[in-house]
Amino acid sequence: MDFYTLNKEEEIRVLRTISQPVKNIDGQLIEFADAMVEAMLGKGIGLAAPQVGRNERFFVVRLSEEEDPLYFFNPQIIGTSEKLSSYEEGCLSIPETWAKIKRPAVVQVQAFNRRGRPFTIEAEGLLATVIQHEYDHLQGKLFIDYLPERKREKLTSHFGHDLYPDLTREGK
Ligand code: CO
Repeated sequence: MDFYTLNKEEEIRVLRTISQPVKNIDGQLIEFADAMVEAMLGKGIGLAAPQVGRNERFFVVRLSEEEDPLYFFNPQIIGTSEKLSSYEEGCLSIPETWAKIKRPAVVQVQAFNRRGRPFTIEAEGLLATVIQHEYDHLQGKLFIDYLPERKREKLTSHFGHDLYPDLTREGK
């Protein structure tokens, strides 16, 4: 399972596309999500479907190997705190890039789990940040979008591609 990155123009398009809701949480999809958990082991703590080439609304999170992975199918953020917290973020799709990003410190999320059952959680700390970071992926959004323009321009020249294509104009 390869990670889509900003190094390739056609992969940027997938990463920048708004993903579609999952229709069925069936055996095939669960197998795929399990493989995503496997693929990020030792590399990252969250992975969203567009990062492995599927524009579908789901992601997996595993803060450490001691913890069970969490599965979020068709997630919805139903509440965020006014209080912010900041973490140094990185992304498997954005090699060698890290930045401190401010996000709501607490987030409430509704989603379907690995068994296809609805659940709601309130997350704080690192988990809140990871959930928001992964949710952004489903919206075609990346953590570098929060950076000031000067830094974004630097990244664009570093990767050598337009990192901010406007796909909405093409009716995607
Ligand atoms: Co990411």
